[in-house]
Amino acid sequence: MNAMGPLPYSATVLDHFENPRNVGDVAGTAAVATVENVDCGDRVRLSLRVADSGIILEARFRTFGCVAAIAASSMTTEMVRGMDLESAAALTDRQVAAALGGLPESKVHCSVLAERVIRKAIENYRSAAGKAGQEAKQ
Ligand code: FES
Repeated sequence: MNAMGPLPYSATVLDHFENPRNVGDVAGTAAVATVENVDCGDRVRLSLRVADSGIILEARFRTFGCVAAIAASSMTTEMVRGMDLESAAALTDRQVAAALGGLPESKVHCSVLAERVIRKAIENYRSAAGKAGQEAKQ
């Protein structure tokens, strides 16, 4: 709630906040990242299980943050499951917000955490895979 009253969240946002999907961690994966919004201190950790084919089989999150950040994290895990890494890395905060039925103007920035964390997790996965590939050549 703010000084003007409760924010006008969509039914989908409230559903993902009250019943977040895929909370937790994927164990033993290099496809993991944590990002923080330095302005508010909200934090999202995302981990992925990626098949050798590059398809995301599982996505889990832990978010310390506001209603919008939690709902966006939950929605992101649902959206990226079944995607290939290219498509998931191209996911935008606007797509996540749209899938949530929109976000109040003052909370649009909260979905940016979801976009940043999925890109970072994929970057970390590719970096680890690159190193493993180099070690295998030696
Ligand atoms: Fe910090 Fe929403 S207020 S991400």
